[in-house]
Amino acid sequence: MAKKIDPCTLVLFGASGNLSRVKLMPGLFRLDAAGRLPDHMAILSVGRAEVSREEWQSDIKGMLDTKFKKGYDAKVFERFIARNHYHANAPTDADAFIKMKTTLSDEKTFPQNLAYFLSVRPVDFAPVVEQLAEVGLTQEDKYWRRVVIEKPFGTDLPSAQDLQASISKHLKESQIYRIDHYLGKSALQNIMLQRFANALLEPIWNNQYIDHVQITNTEMLGVGERTQFYDGTGALRDMIQSHILQTMALTAMELPTDLSPESVRAEKIKVLEAIRPIPVNELNKHAFRAQYAAGEINGEKVPGYLQELGDSNSVVETYAALKLFVDNPRWQGVPFYIRTAKRLHEADTRISIRFKKAPLQIKDGQDQNWLMLGIQPRECIKMEIQSKIPGLDISTRTIQLDAANRQETDETIDAYEALLLNLMEGDNSLYLHISEVEAQWRLVDPVVKAWAADKKPVYQYPAGSQDPEASKVIFEAEDQFWRYSIELGGDKH
Ligand code: BG6
Repeated sequence: MAKKIDPCTLVLFGASGNLSRVKLMPGLFRLDAAGRLPDHMAILSVGRAEVSREEWQSDIKGMLDTKFKKGYDAKVFERFIARNHYHANAPTDADAFIKMKTTLSDEKTFPQNLAYFLSVRPVDFAPVVEQLAEVGLTQEDKYWRRVVIEKPFGTDLPSAQDLQASISKHLKESQIYRIDHYLGKSALQNIMLQRFANALLEPIWNNQYIDHVQITNTEMLGVGERTQFYDGTGALRDMIQSHILQTMALTAMELPTDLSPESVRAEKIKVLEAIRPIPVNELNKHAFRAQYAAGEINGEKVPGYLQELGDSNSVVETYAALKLFVDNPRWQGVPFYIRTAKRLHEADTRISIRFKKAPLQIKDGQDQNWLMLGIQPRECIKMEIQSKIPGLDISTRTIQLDAANRQETDETIDAYEALLLNLMEGDNSLYLHISEVEAQWRLVDPVVKAWAADKKPVYQYPAGSQDPEASKVIFEAEDQFWRYSIELGGDKH
């Protein structure tokens, strides 16, 4: 059910950047088209360049033309474009924020409930909040004031805590919206619903029945234009610290008392804090990293990471796998293998759960049951079970029950669209609490440090290949292996 949204102004810092062009502006447009923006809602784009309102509006038209190739409704466009304003905020101008306050004080144009979306360099998060506060633009008296902080929130635990310390001088926790865009994906929200809104799954979702869990995110894309950024980040910080650990939290958490933001976050925090620290003295048994070398993707030759970077000494990983344990009664003894990679053989994000051996073993090496939740590209639930091969003999084969979570007529909503709507509604359940961010850094920091200190050349895997053979060192049991695909047979090597 649509929640009521107060008249408000979205102040978009970094409006001419890539995120804004590809996700935020098109997302806001779609919300407008769906009738989800209040009548009195304005968008103030803030950028460094001196650009007139008209020029900015025509830039926005270009963004929409690029995104919506099939066209869009002219009436909605008129309405949307009229909401859009531009404010130049020159970094060299000491009075820039005072000028912005003056612009925003035009109450007729700009409703005074203000949401600031900081799509800026991470080093600018704290200074922007500081300056907004200095001119009184974060103060909540008659109106609400909210600040969205893009990923990454810090680059390790101390820097995340520093950032938190500096913004919390000016903002209450309820004013801070920390993004992990995976939480805006409907398929991620579905993990909790499928687990707890079905009587079938919950009873077997524990160490009595589950052998191990794999949380996988693989991409066929390489690092592309982002070599410099990526080389300062690596797969562990880029994907595991955020998206994958959130996916794991939703997979492993206990049933919240209700679906309020506080209750859901409380359970996620509990489970993230229950993950056992990775023993750095036995790192090789718990963590594996690799880099893609030259190879082939969709029949096309692609260069390796070090070639793209132009630095053969980098030890930054494009493949990262960890083995984690959750120390609570439900999960005691069950390994969670989580992995992410660029340039693997397929692009797929999923949760694969392998069950323990069945009581009846018809043949040696009989497949164990798998339950899989497909996140992307397919949103689905699959179950692999043993079933009799019709005929005179008693033998079984693996069959797959395969159900799409998405039907043809269902809406496709981009994660950012959902998050922007929640921001205006004042619902921060799909945003991160600081305790989640801290728990996530606490977990990956020791591995990031140990890997950065180890300058030995990193294991290479050809672009387009499956998981590197050597990554198997992290498995607890000899009969465990990477599930390389969600399709039937995806457990065979
Ligand atoms: C971003 C990472 O947060 O998520 C990227 O920085 C990654 O490296 C991206 O490609 C993946 O997001 P999605 O929604 O395409 O799976």
